[in-house]
Amino acid sequence: MAIRLGIIGFGYMGHWHLKNAPRVEGVEVVAAYDINPEKVAEAREIGLAGFDTLEDFLKSDLFNLVLVATPNDRHCELVCAALNAGKNVICEKPVAMSMAELDLMIDTAKKNNVLFTVHQNRRWDKDFRIVKALWDSGELGHVYAIHSRLHGARGAMFGWRAEPEHGGGMIYDWGVHFVDQLLFMMGFDCVKSVFCKTEKVKTPEVEDYFFLLLDLKNGAHVQMEIGTWVLKPMPRWLVLGEKGTAYVNDFTRSGGVISVDESVEPEVIVAMTTSGPTRTFAPRGKKEIVERELPDPPADLTEYYANLRDAVDGKAELIVKPEQVRAVFRVLEAAFESARTGKMIEL
Ligand SMILES: NC(=O)c1ccc[n+]([C@@H]2O[C@H](COP(=O)([O-])OP(=O)(O)OC[C@H]3O[C@@H](n4cnc5c(N)ncnc54)[C@H](O)[C@@H]3O)[C@@H](O)[C@H]2O)c1
Repeated sequence: MAIRLGIIGFGYMGHWHLKNAPRVEGVEVVAAYDINPEKVAEAREIGLAGFDTLEDFLKSDLFNLVLVATPNDRHCELVCAALNAGKNVICEKPVAMSMAELDLMIDTAKKNNVLFTVHQNRRWDKDFRIVKALWDSGELGHVYAIHSRLHGARGAMFGWRAEPEHGGGMIYDWGVHFVDQLLFMMGFDCVKSVFCKTEKVKTPEVEDYFFLLLDLKNGAHVQMEIGTWVLKPMPRWLVLGEKGTAYVNDFTRSGGVISVDESVEPEVIVAMTTSGPTRTFAPRGKKEIVERELPDPPADLTEYYANLRDAVDGKAELIVKPEQVRAVFRVLEAAFESARTGKMIEL
């Protein structure tokens, strides 16, 4: 069976899916509904079936999969309406504004015996795939710490993302991707406790900066930090393993894996600070350091749409499963609670 997609919310991400979903054979976008009549008119102009009301849209049998790509506060009601109309549904991230909303969506999907998934597309980002390849290979030995950071310089949360009533704020906007990446890589049950600090640096009503410390069950920890006002960015990733350090500078493959050639006699170097010497923090001798290229795993987002097509056909399991989304949401809820109370939250 081919996938025929109907989109609710024909804004920025609606158009993203319009462009990207049909890159996969057997997937086409056929319809759109938006509360903004101009968006509906635009959909009609490009040959889609445009719907002026949700009711008419949901009655249509032109499509067998609905994408909800509206602001976050509307996800639950629209997802549930589409599920209750017997449609399979993809929801944009963050899936919900509370665990209660998410549980309602999951139950509604089960009750109607249809598929429900979330667009956690950053599982296919190149930088993440590289880190996941390193983790999967075990080549860094025991990984004792991971830094996952994103530093922007624009100081901006755009449009409704700056408004709490629409589900704005950086934890929902990007935090959900970062936590999803981590749990996808290390296991959906890997987090033991959560500490979070937030700031409203340039956006008055929602956090545009957060720092998240995740204490993992395997003894390692993860530092996540996302800020829109960090004018000297640090690497996107640092992976600290007992056999070496990997760094990925940005969303590309720029970076490396650094280890030490133990067969080379260590040079004794003393570094000077203004107030004294240090041997511990002096650099390694050049001959001791081995730096190799990062791995080059595929990072192909079309896998997401191909998986949806096959899952709708009953030929594959969903890659982004509702229970995984729930595990991620549990960490986000703990982050909000920690930011509010100043306490470390045990999961
Ligand atoms: N996965 C990603 O990489 C990614 C990237 C950006 C945004 N998003 C997510 O996509 C969703 C949409 O974000 P966006 O940037 O496209 O926003 P947007 O503001 O560009 O578009 C939202 C659209 O939804 C419409 N809309 C609002 N309320 C509606 C309702 N009740 N019924 C029907 N239509 C309604 C608006 O008119 C608008 O056209 C958000 O949940 C956001 O977090 C995901």
